Amino acid sequence: MTIEPSSLQDHANRALAASLAERIDRPVVMVGMMGVGKTSVGRKLAQLLQLRFTDADEEIERAARMSVAEIFDGFGEPYFRDGERRVIARLMDEGPSVIATGGGAFVAEETRTLILQRGTAVWLDCDVPTLVERVTRKDTRPLLRGGDPAAIVTRLKAERERFYAEAPIKVISGGGPQGETVRRVLEAIEQWL
Ligand code: S3P
Repeated sequence: MTIEPSSLQDHANRALAASLAERIDRPVVMVGMMGVGKTSVGRKLAQLLQLRFTDADEEIERAARMSVAEIFDGFGEPYFRDGERRVIARLMDEGPSVIATGGGAFVAEETRTLILQRGTAVWLDCDVPTLVERVTRKDTRPLLRGGDPAAIVTRLKAERERFYAEAPIKVISGGGPQGETVRRVLEAIEQWL
């Protein structure tokens, strides 16, 4: 019988998560650039920790009954940021969970303060070419419309890094398997707790 490396990774991650789960007493909040993998890594992390997972953008869309792009188009970015802050504030009050935030959430001062005070922020980071490759797979992000995605991602990353750096935990999401990134997040949380 051959054992796939990914299943060994899953097994190791499950063991690590089991010992961590009972020590997590506040939301774990994934922050970082669009395309870095906050939602997919966050979802996997929640599954391992047996915590609820919420994607903040999806919650905003549900509350507004509109897509993020429709909110940007119809009401503008400040209106979106306001809704984003309110949704995240509510989620932060609902006990331990894993929350994936949109790339601009942690840049907004009030939202960042909320997350830093009531949650454990994890900055997921990776290089610009990887981000560009991932964000160009779909065309739903309003901030990427009307310009060269590579130039926009490069500029936003440079502008935003100093805010993301306020997160107490930073993990690099490399080009390898997702289980590897999840392991790094689990280990980083364990060290930080
Ligand atoms: C944004 C990122 C998006 C979404 C909105 C604005 C940003 O979320 O919240 O389009 O300002 O970077 P993802 O990071 O999940 O793409």
